[in-house]
Amino acid sequence: MNELDSLVESARQLFAQSATPADLENAKAQFLGKSGRMTELMKGMAQLSVEEKKSRGAAINVAKQAIEAALTARRQALADAELQLQLQAEALDVSLPGRQRGAGGLHPVSLTLERIEGIFGSMGFDVAEGPEIETDWFNFTALNTPEDHPARSMHDTFYVEGGPAHAPNLLRTHTSPVQVRYAVQHVKKHRALLDAGQAMPEIRVIVPGRTYRVDSDATHSPMFHQCEGLWIGENVSFKDLKVVFTDFCRTFFESDDLVLRFRPSFFPFTEPSAEIDIQFQTGPLAGRWLEVAGSGQVHPNVVRNMGLDPEKYIGFAFGMGPDRLTMLRYGVNDLRLFFDGDIRFLSQFQ
Ligand code: PHE
Repeated sequence: MNELDSLVESARQLFAQSATPADLENAKAQFLGKSGRMTELMKGMAQLSVEEKKSRGAAINVAKQAIEAALTARRQALADAELQLQLQAEALDVSLPGRQRGAGGLHPVSLTLERIEGIFGSMGFDVAEGPEIETDWFNFTALNTPEDHPARSMHDTFYVEGGPAHAPNLLRTHTSPVQVRYAVQHVKKHRALLDAGQAMPEIRVIVPGRTYRVDSDATHSPMFHQCEGLWIGENVSFKDLKVVFTDFCRTFFESDDLVLRFRPSFFPFTEPSAEIDIQFQTGPLAGRWLEVAGSGQVHPNVVRNMGLDPEKYIGFAFGMGPDRLTMLRYGVNDLRLFFDGDIRFLSQFQ
């Protein structure tokens, strides 16, 4: 191989070894640059005769063209490789299934609350809400549970800032305070009728909402739901409570042979009071008594705190646990599942 051929060959090799465009440009400079090997060869022709210059010049030119061709080819190859990499990185697998927008749905407890509202709505009950941060007065005292009443200890709860030092505000322990809040508003609205000695429209309301107690295990959560019911009129009796609540339970559980039991109990704000138990006659829970609500005839002191005359107005109240109702309806055995936010659990209710 003559000198020029081996020069072309070493240029080809160096170009082939250049892995990046920058390497390649450096390699090019070694051959075609101002002080590159080809330039040196051209300079070296100065001493040659005219004849020699002609043939030597032609040979050098051939070699130079070969190196330039090799350079162009390698540039193209590097650019192609880079494009290939980029295409690979940005590749779209059009055979992947599309991402679907998941259809949202209601939480099982929300489904229960809607159901409760629907059933009581059909019986003429209004739906009201109240604040979750409650005053000591509405949560306890107005409900015939004064400051030193032992029943308060069953409602251990979370106290928050605000309110008098001896009776700070708290996260409500039940929805019962809304009994008084709602009744007071109702009385205010119908003040003129009352003052004129005329009949006031009955109070008929349910109050779904969140409640709080210091309690936590498989069947108790520090935050849980309650739904209060209140019916006050001039002639509302315990019998009405039985009818209304029995109707509700049978509709809610879609079971006509559901049996209810009103078990004597105590609440400061009702007298007499009863726990309401239900019993299914068929299905996995058949034969067991299951407690679903507290209830009773509204205590005269509470009726008075509503701004009504207990000699004239009477009625009943109940407080039930929608979480518990949801567990019974769907056969869920751990209350905490409702509040973990696990989509695998929640999506089963859609
Ligand atoms: N507030 C009571 C509780 O949380 C339930 C209840 C409501 C009882 C209304 C009687 C009347 O346990």
